Amino acid sequence: MYDFDTVPDRVPTGCVKWSARRELCGEEDAIPLWVADMDFPVAPEIQEAIRARAEHPIYGYPVRQDGFYESLTGWTRRRYGWEIRREWICYSPGIVPAVNLAVLAFTRPGDKVVIQSPVYYPFGAAVLNNGRRLLDNPLRLEGDRYVMDLPDLERKIDSRTKLLILCSPHNPVGRVWTREELSALAELCARKNLVVVSDEIHADIVMPGRRHTCFAAISEDAASRSLTCLAVSKTFNLAGLCTANVVIPDRRLRDGFSTAAGNLGLGTSNVFGIAAQEAAYTKGEPWLEELIRYVRGNYLRLKTVLEGGIPGIRVLPLEGTYLAWADCRGLGMSDPELKDFFLHKAKVWLDEGIKFGTGGSGFQRFNLACPRATLDAALDRILSAYEARRAAD
Ligand SMILES: Cc1ncc(COP(=O)(O)O)c(C=O)c1O
Repeated sequence: MYDFDTVPDRVPTGCVKWSARRELCGEEDAIPLWVADMDFPVAPEIQEAIRARAEHPIYGYPVRQDGFYESLTGWTRRRYGWEIRREWICYSPGIVPAVNLAVLAFTRPGDKVVIQSPVYYPFGAAVLNNGRRLLDNPLRLEGDRYVMDLPDLERKIDSRTKLLILCSPHNPVGRVWTREELSALAELCARKNLVVVSDEIHADIVMPGRRHTCFAAISEDAASRSLTCLAVSKTFNLAGLCTANVVIPDRRLRDGFSTAAGNLGLGTSNVFGIAAQEAAYTKGEPWLEELIRYVRGNYLRLKTVLEGGIPGIRVLPLEGTYLAWADCRGLGMSDPELKDFFLHKAKVWLDEGIKFGTGGSGFQRFNLACPRATLDAALDRILSAYEARRAAD
């Protein structure tokens, strides 16, 4: 019903993925499969809501009203089985700002903050740029499945450890954490009295047969020590509208977060983001279901073509997100060589695994939210570069 196949021309739109390739990666003609936004048009229902709001030509300070809140509470109830109250919902212009605000609000300089690498790299930046210390609790790769290493975390936590930043589902490794895994983590966080920022921005892109569990829905204790970050930005390709939600059931944590946001003057929502979120959460489900099927098709194509054509690459299972994580260690290349191969020889611009921290070396992340023709063109380029390399050896 929806069109995911047409290849759009995004170059004239001033977007980070396509419009500044020469400046950002040095390859004007590279096919970009890195930054996590989609080369798909927004659902027509959302376009219509934005158009309708634009029709009224005054875009002054907005206020979020009933429809905005009810769209989110309805969504968390229907999609994740989690009942939330309107007063728990705080505004943030994005999830990265929310993570930074949580670091400012709930830790002091020199305190330790846990991340589970390889992980979305702005988490580490939020800790270090604010003068806090990183406590890395790397994931363990068991066969082709990543798991949390809770004994390692238990050993490392000390009295200066205050906060844990959870990525759920996990970018870049593609895990959708199970209720059991999250319960074990929640139990440890309760014992060690950690606040948890649960970044659930990828919660809606879960593959068939998987179900997202909200960390805060695990138990009353988990709810009382957590901030849950939710947004329409990844799910519906609306990152440019700078609108996100932070759900904070505990009054004390909510006050702390709101004070930190207020101190930085981050109070004003985005007029179009409000309209878009309401439309997305009330009318977007049919589009989302088709999107997930399309992404799954792209994942299977990527896995079949890469593993069939290049023996040194293994594409790990994709449980959630539209980001595939490929183990390229079998190619025997260093990280700079991998970058040279993909970006400068194949002219396909990926996110380098090494950027995601411990355990990322030798991996590459592929963004699958693109028309199949774009993916196929990128795969052709990679296979040709591989053949050329073999011929030269
Ligand atoms: C785990 C995760 N958190 C946050 C973001 C970005 O959030 P925002 O654009 O709302 O700051 C991304 C984008 O890829 C992400 O993968």
